[in-house]
Formats: sequence, C-alpha cells, structure tokens
Amino acid sequence: MAARFLLSRKTLSSVLRHDAKPIGVGIVAAATHSRGLHAFTLPDLGYDYGALEPAISGEIMQLHHQKHHQTYITNYNKALEQLHDAIAKADSSSVVKLQSAIKFNGGGHINHSIFWKNLTPVREGGGEPPKGSLGWAIDTHFGSLEALIQKVNAEGAALQGSGWVWLGLDKELKRLVVETTANQDPLVTKGPHLVPLLGIDVWEHAYYLQYKNVRPDYLKNIWKVINWKYASEVYEKESS
Ligand SMILES: [Fe+2]
Repeated sequence: MAARFLLSRKTLSSVLRHDAKPIGVGIVAAATHSRGLHAFTLPDLGYDYGALEPAISGEIMQLHHQKHHQTYITNYNKALEQLHDAIAKADSSSVVKLQSAIKFNGGGHINHSIFWKNLTPVREGGGEPPKGSLGWAIDTHFGSLEALIQKVNAEGAALQGSGWVWLGLDKELKRLVVETTANQDPLVTKGPHLVPLLGIDVWEHAYYLQYKNVRPDYLKNIWKVINWKYASEVYEKESS
C-alpha cells in the first residue's frame, strides 16, 4: 500500500506545481457527457491545501485531492460509460460485472466529497466542539464529546486494511451511531437509514506521508481540524 506513495521527486514536483484552489464548499459538479451521461468532476475544497497544517500536511491534502479523489472520479465515469453501453447491448453479464467498479469508485467519490467538508482550518473554526442539538445528542448517546472521540479513534485504529470510520445519524432509530466501512463503501451500505455526519478516511493515503504507519496519531490530530459546524448543519437538517 505504501509503495504507491513513493513518488519520485520529479513526479512529486510536477504534482505540486498545481496551485491550491481555495473555493466554495465542494458540491459534486456535473457536466454533460458526450453520450448524454453526466460526468462527475472533482469538487473544489473550501480551503488551501496547506491550511490544515500541522494536523494534515499540504502535501497529503494535494495528493489526496488531486490524485486519489480524481482517480476515483475518472474510473467511476469510465464504469458508468461502460454500464451505459452494456445496457444498450443487453449485455447482462457486463452489467453485473461492472457493479464492483461502480461501488468502489462511486463510493470513493461520495466519501471523499464528504470528507473535504468535514475538515476546516483552525482559524475558521476547525476543532471547535459542536454546539446546539448535535452537541446535546452526542452527550446523550455517548456521554461526552471526549467519549465519542475515543470510540471513533478506537474503531478507526482497529479497522483492518483500508476503510472509513463514521459518525452517522440513524434516521429510523433517531440516534447517533459510530460505524466503520471497508474499502470505499459509503455509510449507507451499513443501513438505508444512515446519514453520514462525519467520515474519517483511514486509508494509508490519508496519512502515511506524515504519520507513516501510526494511524492512531493521525486519528488523534485530525480532531483539531474537524468541521463540527458542517456536521451540526447536516444533523439539524436530517433530524428535523
Ligand atoms: Fe482517501
């Protein structure tokens, strides 16, 4: 897994020549595809790549966004095109065969689009504890914010291989949950009523360049740049 991050200096410098793009909160943009399909495009970040330092390095953020997330999108669009063709040809074998690529790459796009919004620089409120109804709900379900953080960190550290650890809202049971998903599975694969409030990427590509193999240190530090305001807004919208 780590090998993919061992970029040559030349490759890395060509990657880093791209300037960070401070922009509005990223929403999945859609462009019209030549076959009439929608092609998904890379959402912008609401902050500079280096703005989350020292919790997450600018180098990680840039590679993660421009290379990893972009690759999920590229492969998602490709799989959707192939699906379109397979359906047109009534090629049911190919339709089924494409499902795993669609789930993996589409999930990667969905999860990362949430992840970028879950982070914000300290000077813009990163790490400030949730207020209002989400703060109350966390105290009710987990005892305290500190207890929730401990639970998320423990489950994230224990997750074998690559995946995500989530704070979600179960809209049916009207309660908060902590869940993990493997690979790029979105939270909804754990239950149709689950809405993600906060997703933390525990793939090595999210932390290895800075934290090496010490995932618990990454999990400990990421709370300094968590955007609780965003999570609170989603909670209030989805729980009303
Ligand atoms: Fe990632």
